[in-house]
Amino acid sequence: MPAAALYPEHLATLLARTEEALVRGGFDHLVVPSGTLHYQAFDDRDYPYAVNPQFKAWLPVTKAPGSWLVVTPGQRPTLVFLQPHDYWHVVPEAPGGYWAGHFDIVVVRDAAEAARHLPADPARCAILGEPQSALGDHVPNNPPAVIAYLEYHRAFKTPYEVAMMHEASRIGVRAHRAAERAFRAGASEFGIHLAYCQAAGQDANDLPYGNIVCLNEHAAVLHYTDRDRVPPKVARSFLIDAGASFGGYASDITRTYSAADDDFAALVAAVDAAQLRMCDAVRAGTDYRRIHLDAHLALAGILRDAGILRIDAADAVARGVSSAFFPHGIGHGIGLQVHDVAGFAASDAGGTIAKPDGHPYLRLTRTLEPGMVVTIEPGLYFIDMLLDELQAKGLGDTVDWDRVATFKPYGGIRIEDDVVCTDGAPLNLTREAFSAA
Ligand code: GLY
Ligand code: MN
Ligand code: MN
Repeated sequence: MPAAALYPEHLATLLARTEEALVRGGFDHLVVPSGTLHYQAFDDRDYPYAVNPQFKAWLPVTKAPGSWLVVTPGQRPTLVFLQPHDYWHVVPEAPGGYWAGHFDIVVVRDAAEAARHLPADPARCAILGEPQSALGDHVPNNPPAVIAYLEYHRAFKTPYEVAMMHEASRIGVRAHRAAERAFRAGASEFGIHLAYCQAAGQDANDLPYGNIVCLNEHAAVLHYTDRDRVPPKVARSFLIDAGASFGGYASDITRTYSAADDDFAALVAAVDAAQLRMCDAVRAGTDYRRIHLDAHLALAGILRDAGILRIDAADAVARGVSSAFFPHGIGHGIGLQVHDVAGFAASDAGGTIAKPDGHPYLRLTRTLEPGMVVTIEPGLYFIDMLLDELQAKGLGDTVDWDRVATFKPYGGIRIEDDVVCTDGAPLNLTREAFSAA
């Protein structure tokens, strides 16, 4: 079903959540500024505007700074929409589209006018935003009870949100395919990045995060965002971690390619097959930490089979050796933010679910339930710093260093999909988009 048809139900869900969140916090109104521009220090240049996620949760409006949303239980929500008189910049378009009919919309021309449309008593308002968004006495107070409730439940995507993420995945996959073609044609990292942006129709200000485009050894830098302007003499491997945005929702996709049909290609294929099995574990009732820990075992098995490890998989995990090759979390929640909030939330009233000991970079520790959307992104990397640490810890004899030398020029591997937990089999938004493309 198209997202537009699913929007009324999405809005009803948000209204119900808001009603309860306001009870929890003891407030009458939810008030959400869209956010304002930030300026560089000692300069008149603004940073790219990033909409308040609490605002874009309600409507697919991501480029309207200075606007406000007012939600009072039992009433239609109000959108106070700033359309300034301004001939320097593009003024946000008048609100329209499938969502607009669900709001009382007040168009204002400046902040002072906006203030007149906010609830009279700021003390009765839960105002969710950054300090800079304050408008007179309407100063963001970010009540923890309200935020904890809303953010905990935001992990459960409505069908509308899943449809929006489907589209974000389709756009990302289209761009990934263009990027692969650019790699095969011998483009530089910068050239591949441009091919990606062109195919997505999105650039740095639109994408949900900075593209990670790595040739060869650069794939060993987890968040490599430099982009060489000149192609390497020989491009052996290509890792691209890049997503796309749609109506405020993100996709987060990683693929790794080998230029030749070689041992590295076989290693990529092994990680890909293991990744598919991990995706299949995205099922209701599964502790996400289990998926992470099982991934260590699976990846250590692949390293052992490839002759990189001299010890068996369980031993490699127990002794911390797998962490030298897989030094990040298996994934995270995703939605309005590429790293969705409330990954550690124990309940909608607060509390924290701990990460497993020795796994500081895992971003999600909750038990999966239908509606959650998570990434599954196992990786294997040849990172000098971590390999040196292994040696320093006296674990050097667990590794075949000749095999490591064979793979180091390829940098590393990551395969990342966005997967929806359902009542039954998981829905893999990324694989579906690749199959359809
Ligand atoms: N693109 C960042 C991540 O995969 O989490
Ligand atoms: Mn990710
Ligand atoms: Mn990613």
